[in-house]
Amino acid sequence: SIAACLFDLDGVIVDTAKFHYNAWRQLANDLGFDLTHAQNELLKGISRMESLEIILALGGVKLSEEEKLQRATEKNIRYLALCMQMTPADTLPGVRAFLDELKHHGIRIGLGSASKNAKVIMERIDMLSYFDTIVDGNRTTKGKPDPQVFLMGAADLAASPAQCVVFEDAVAGIQSAKAAGMLAVGIGEKAILTQADIVIPGFSDFHFQDMEAAFA
Ligand code: G6P
Ligand code: MG
Repeated sequence: SIAACLFDLDGVIVDTAKFHYNAWRQLANDLGFDLTHAQNELLKGISRMESLEIILALGGVKLSEEEKLQRATEKNIRYLALCMQMTPADTLPGVRAFLDELKHHGIRIGLGSASKNAKVIMERIDMLSYFDTIVDGNRTTKGKPDPQVFLMGAADLAASPAQCVVFEDAVAGIQSAKAAGMLAVGIGEKAILTQADIVIPGFSDFHFQDMEAAFA
């Protein structure tokens, strides 16, 4: 039976994915090229510096290591400025109610995010108190699709991987969950999240009983 649920942050708990896109797109524009929506999809779940490498390759731009760090810092400042406009009302629809249901049923709750900004964003939307553990980009050494982030979360929560359900909006995140031997719920579109066990558009119409039924 299910003992723990592990949640990605960006695009699952809160819609910061649009802010990441905005800030990356500005960086690309500054370097003289554009970043499409489809290209941005490849960046979901991918760490800051890895994302930068992918974007530079897409634009055919080469930078020194020093300039890479400077551009990444600029991107993060822009991203955080956008995030600071958020309030608890920006938590995605149904998320709080679903987490309340999990708590009510004694399910342990963890965060598994590649972001180094996870804590600051969780504070901003007043979600920190729901989580029994937080695994973020400051703790991991291997990014998604490596299973490390979710295996650390499961270990923190004393749950075996087979007892864990992961909620993810990124292709790399679903791959990470499956590589960890966990059940994976995709948040988004079936056509994109092909490796997820089930895909839902969001939490508005998804309840504890639906999760139990899906994985019975
Ligand atoms: C999440 C997002 C990515 C982002 C990564 C690192 O996985 O989906 O788009 O690049 O976190 O975020 P950070 O806040 O550390 O730059
Ligand atoms: Mg995400």
